[in-house]
Amino acid sequence: MSEKINVLYNRKPCYDILFTGSFDELWTELAALGCGDRRLCVVTDSRVDQLYGAEVLNILDGKCRKAVKYVFPEGEAGKNLDTVKEIYRFLIEEGFERRDMLLALGGGVVGDITGYAAATYLRGIDFVQIPSTLLAQADSSIGGKTGVDFDGYKNMVGAFKMPRLVYMNLALLQTLEERQYFSGFAEVMKHGLIRDAAFYEWLIENMYEICERDLQVLQEMLIRSCTVKKLVVEKDPEEQGDRALLNLGHTIGHAIEKAKNFTLYHGECVALGIVAAAYISWKRELLSMEEYYEVRDMFVPFYLPISIDDIDPQEILRLTKSDKKMEAGKIKFVLLKKIGKAVIDHSVTDEEILAAVNEIYFSEEDAHA
Ligand code: GLY
Repeated sequence: MSEKINVLYNRKPCYDILFTGSFDELWTELAALGCGDRRLCVVTDSRVDQLYGAEVLNILDGKCRKAVKYVFPEGEAGKNLDTVKEIYRFLIEEGFERRDMLLALGGGVVGDITGYAAATYLRGIDFVQIPSTLLAQADSSIGGKTGVDFDGYKNMVGAFKMPRLVYMNLALLQTLEERQYFSGFAEVMKHGLIRDAAFYEWLIENMYEICERDLQVLQEMLIRSCTVKKLVVEKDPEEQGDRALLNLGHTIGHAIEKAKNFTLYHGECVALGIVAAAYISWKRELLSMEEYYEVRDMFVPFYLPISIDDIDPQEILRLTKSDKKMEAGKIKFVLLKKIGKAVIDHSVTDEEILAAVNEIYFSEEDAHA
């Protein structure tokens, strides 16, 4: 059942994304990258390590020059330069050289940190993504964005560094904790909304199977979702233009994520951000009212929030300005021109953002009305 798609970089074949249902093909894929005589370091977090660390290390053991594992505590709190420094130290102690390789086994945080360590250690060594969450499989493992948070600013320090391979074991999604799974679905929905209306319709039609995590349906969903991302990043790998379309829902989403001190999952905040962006799109008469409500309500069967309490809309507005999606002091906001077509807009006003945040804000007064 395995399938592969290749992602181009500067118009040349760069790395494969392998969609499969186990780790059975991992060594064959790594061997094809010349790993037999390289040192390999699996970088993972404490949660993923307990689940799959030993299994992946066993696959490598005895087949390559050296196989080691570096584990750091799970959570966004560890996504910083201190963790990167610890990885450098470990690699130096283990004698890692230029042609050795890192394997990022985990969710978005693991992939981003490991990718950044790979981009900078000895001015750059190879790395492979083995994403374990839906968020990482659908979004963060593809396209070469790596980095860490800095002084409370999300992903403020980083580099573009393409992986050598993205190995997606879709079976890992079947045991993912429910909230984590559905959080990742927000990024899948985003891909349909920004560029592929037929895929968006397919998601609605296959709602039941997606919720049930049917392996065949997961594979089709991820191939279609990753194909959207592939086409966007191939055209604009370093976000000079259209790659920013992938930030639909992220301006307000990141602000909520920060205001809530990362107690909500990234995808949950993205869902709220997409509802807010769709609301502005409706008010600008890009989307019809029916389309706005359809986009909003589409999150509900996937257990994603469409409203939020206990926020200060003014604070959310203020936080949108500290997001890095700014250009010449203006927010690069992503709106929906229609379902399946997003546009970048520099003219969204504070009033529009506030109105959109108020739309998703479920206040105490609403509760008593
Ligand atoms: N997650 C958005 C991007 O890769 O550009």
